Amino acid sequence: MASDLDRYLDTHNRRIHEELFELLRIPSVSARSEHAGDVRRAADWMRDSLSRIGLDASVIPTAGHPVVLGEWRKAPGAPTVLVYGHYDVQPAEPLELWESPPFEPTIRDGRIYARGSVDDKGQLFLHVKALEAHLAVRGTLPVNVIVLAEGEEEVGSEHLEPFVAEHATRLAADAVVISDSSMFAPGQPSILSSLRGLAYFQIDVTGPSVDLHSGSYGGAVVNPATALARIIATFHDESGHIAIPGFYDAVRDWGDSARAAIRRLPFDEAAFQHETGASALGGEAGYSTLERIWTRPTCEVNGLLSGYTGEGAKTVLPSKAMAKVSCRLVPDQNPEDIGRLLESHVRRVAAKGVEITVRHLSGGRPWRAELAGPVFDAARRALTAAFGREPVIVGEGGSIPVVGDFERILGAPVLLMGFGLPGENAHAPNEWMSDENFVTGTKAVAAFWEELSAATG
Ligand code: BES
Ligand code: MN
Ligand code: MN
Repeated sequence: MASDLDRYLDTHNRRIHEELFELLRIPSVSARSEHAGDVRRAADWMRDSLSRIGLDASVIPTAGHPVVLGEWRKAPGAPTVLVYGHYDVQPAEPLELWESPPFEPTIRDGRIYARGSVDDKGQLFLHVKALEAHLAVRGTLPVNVIVLAEGEEEVGSEHLEPFVAEHATRLAADAVVISDSSMFAPGQPSILSSLRGLAYFQIDVTGPSVDLHSGSYGGAVVNPATALARIIATFHDESGHIAIPGFYDAVRDWGDSARAAIRRLPFDEAAFQHETGASALGGEAGYSTLERIWTRPTCEVNGLLSGYTGEGAKTVLPSKAMAKVSCRLVPDQNPEDIGRLLESHVRRVAAKGVEITVRHLSGGRPWRAELAGPVFDAARRALTAAFGREPVIVGEGGSIPVVGDFERILGAPVLLMGFGLPGENAHAPNEWMSDENFVTGTKAVAAFWEELSAATG
């Protein structure tokens, strides 16, 4: 049905890859101030790429990294769809574990290796190329389109919610489409029905004003590392349930039919465990692995720092201890309430003799979709046509902070159809995107626009 579009994409396959590789070569690491210029360069590159295919494109500054907007509004009376993605990437460290340098993209075994290949430059760019195919082959798009590419998703999208609120009229859309997630398995197209939210903290524990001799003082001065360990140990009970009072108050029941749908998915638990390298899986009692990741909140230590960690032994009672802790949230928890609950719990259980500070670093709301309406129907048909298989509905344990904001501020349903794969090493060394998924994903998105125009008449 979309074969003229597919043909166009096949004909231009080489150039499209060269362009993607240009984008992947820009180290747009949003977390690092020394890369601010590269982030800006990636934004400019995106703007140029969008204007070259025929969109009105601009780079709009924010208090953080800029937003790139591309607009095509030549279908009066037709719906407007907003395509979102992010052009920033996670830091590439540890560099020595990469088999090829993170910002020198290469294809090996059908995989595009580079930082940002799948998260999210490859998935964002395939949307641009699907639009290009329509504009080049048909000279038009079936609906009005806004492309919004942000540069601080990987650091929590702090300035995007105010941006969306401030530009709500300009961004008004009937639906939002995002590819920044993964398929359930190779060849198995997938539509996301949920994302977890996030509340991120740094906990600092300070005891004596300097490190002390652990023989002269140990036993008589409270050890901040021990005090922090005891705090952390109160986060969960024996059954893996979070023991912070009030933590589950806002958690909505997932529902029997959604749980049954999760159980029907062909999940290979042994393969999942093997992929992690851990000797056993573990989590909250009473829930399956997929339920734990998709439907239940967490409270995880992300980093720990205290005392002497160099070679050999040093008998010291550390002055400070620090932990990075983040909670993944599920509907209807929100990061502000969880922050208050966690902070007062930490203060309540902390030993006397240490000072506690809790910093609230970033947050994002959880999200759960309705999965109904013309946009989802169009996606189902397009994914089925492109991959030769009906999509499955999957949940997700990760977070995309702006998704809930789009829904709330723009009042538009959000469709998440991802083209990543399990094991793609997002955020880790040797990140890759399946080249087949990149190519088929582009065709699926091209078909999606076609289906959407048929569905909305
Ligand atoms: N694309 C991911 C979200 C995601 C992760 C979707 C896994 C599907 C599977 C996104 O770029 C991401 O990494 N989000 C961060 C958000 C945080 C930095 C606020 C996350 O989930 O940790
Ligand atoms: Mn992403
Ligand atoms: Mn990410």
